[in-house]
Amino acid sequence: MTETITGTTTADGGAPAAHAAAGTKKRILSGAKPTADSLHLGNYIGAVRNWVDMQAEYDAVFFIPDLHAVTVDFDPAELAHRTRVVAAQYIAAGIDPDKSIFFVQSHVPEHAQLAWALNCITGFGEASRMTQFKDKTQKTGSDSATLGLFAYPTLMAADILLYQTDLVPVGEDQRQHLELTRNLAQRFNTRFGETFTVPEATILKANAKIYDLQNPNAKMSKTGESPNGAIQLLEDPKIAAKRIKSAVTDAGTEIRFDATEKPGVSNLLTIYSSLTGTPVPELEAAYEGKMYGHLKVDLAEVMVDFITPLRNRTNELMADPAELDRLLAQGAGRAREIASGTLAGVYERMGFLPSGNLPGVR
Ligand code: TYM
Repeated sequence: MTETITGTTTADGGAPAAHAAAGTKKRILSGAKPTADSLHLGNYIGAVRNWVDMQAEYDAVFFIPDLHAVTVDFDPAELAHRTRVVAAQYIAAGIDPDKSIFFVQSHVPEHAQLAWALNCITGFGEASRMTQFKDKTQKTGSDSATLGLFAYPTLMAADILLYQTDLVPVGEDQRQHLELTRNLAQRFNTRFGETFTVPEATILKANAKIYDLQNPNAKMSKTGESPNGAIQLLEDPKIAAKRIKSAVTDAGTEIRFDATEKPGVSNLLTIYSSLTGTPVPELEAAYEGKMYGHLKVDLAEVMVDFITPLRNRTNELMADPAELDRLLAQGAGRAREIASGTLAGVYERMGFLPSGNLPGVR
């Protein structure tokens, strides 16, 4: 089931919203941060897989938010490697760089430029209420956090608004960021004149949140407490199978979907259903009278069959970094054509003095 945060409006003037005004395909945009050596299963089921399916129907923009990756501790050599890994994983999963616009965020300077403009219409209190910042600084305190982390949501809003995006397919955890983006778009339009399309989030309810295999009350993430809690898309399929087999299950023996009473088994059913396309009720019927162990053994096999080709294809793509870089540069060129038009409109409406034809400015 797909749930959207409703209320899309489309700017009615200027070049930026031309794709919508011309009645062409709606635009979708999304991205996954290069903050680990591999995307994990939650990224795939909650996001990337849906992007692949949506490519044909929409005018699609997929990017790698590397500027967001440096809002927390990072290592420069690792960042470069991880950025290419995510690029390779997008393609291996089925993103087609010819069909979709596919690029790295830092290659398109308009993202940082628009983010600054949005920072200046965002309330300090409003930004302080964003739960991601609160969560990330809960243990360490805000003194050790960066200003970049605080401004993370406005950079994300810039990513979305630069492309006059209609729909943003993301997992449940991004909902609050989308709400802020919509508020900022409406605020800017009201104050400076119609400029931005107000986007909707597209959250696929059934699999919007994949949980940690060791702690099924927490979402599967790059920073989970146990390495066994997450399946990395680039890991040895045998290890992935082991992680499934050692997943925490619940009291009782019955295999049935009940997110409150049986979060562990329900998570395994969601994963199984997402990877095979078998509806959960059919799985429940098939496993009636069987033990948790049966489900885990079968799902471990499904996991091996899923991960093996994806991993092989990613490794093949990683073996030719020059080709990956070429595809990313091509995508950045296409992205800039759109982004520069939006930013020019924003600057003009905000009253920035035109820079003339200075090369490299705007
Ligand atoms: P990131 O990199 O944390 O995650 C990428 C996508 O994966 C989804 N996701 C999950 N879905 C289901 N279950 C999980 N356990 C799970 N973990 C992650 C996320 O919801 C996301 O869709 N802020 C974004 C990156 C970003 C972005 C954007 C996204 C930057 N700019 C503009 C969309 C549009 C993020 O941190 O995603």
